[in-house]
Amino acid sequence: MRDIWADIDNILIDEATLQARVKALAAQIESDYADQDDLLLICVLKGAYIFLSDISRSLKRPHSIDFMGISSYGKGTTSMGAVQIIMDLKAPIENRNVLIIEDIIDSGQTLNYMRRNLMARSPASLRICTLLNKPARREIDVEVDYIGFDIPDEFVVGYGLDFDEIYRNLPFIAILKPAVFAHLFA
Ligand code: IMP
Ligand code: MG
Repeated sequence: MRDIWADIDNILIDEATLQARVKALAAQIESDYADQDDLLLICVLKGAYIFLSDISRSLKRPHSIDFMGISSYGKGTTSMGAVQIIMDLKAPIENRNVLIIEDIIDSGQTLNYMRRNLMARSPASLRICTLLNKPARREIDVEVDYIGFDIPDEFVVGYGLDFDEIYRNLPFIAILKPAVFAHLFA
């Protein structure tokens, strides 16, 4: 069996720092929506599943959750450009206060597509919360309301984020050893 810990080059954001920031984001969300009865968190699958779960458990206020499966990446580490809905929401969002929960904003293609797609469904409000932001890679300007961390232009894994569908269960954000990607360029 592969030892995924042996593939880690260095830890960019450790577990305690991540957890403290998630709690601070949840407190900010709680305060911003304090006068609203309704709040719907939309988790962008797959990468945001752990972030959604921690944000949801940190919120003391009532809220509902739904999931949307989005695909924009192939097997490699760079965007394929085309964004696709592979699993749609279960329920309409008309007149709901919607907060998109995303793992990372890179080129901005995914969130730009999602924002336009969800706005067409007439929510009462639509905001975006991303755990990670790579400002250096932005191709499309997307307004993001909550950002956990700005990070450098490095491919990262852990806390929900994958490379080739593994490493999602690491409890921190890490950079992989270059040798892990070697087969992509072979
Ligand atoms: P964008 O559409 O280019 O903004 O890319 C957003 C999506 O690409 C995210 O939801 C991730 O699934 C994926 N992605 C971008 N950068 C990384 C990374 O460093 N590690 C893992 N996935 C990433
Ligand atoms: Mg993703």
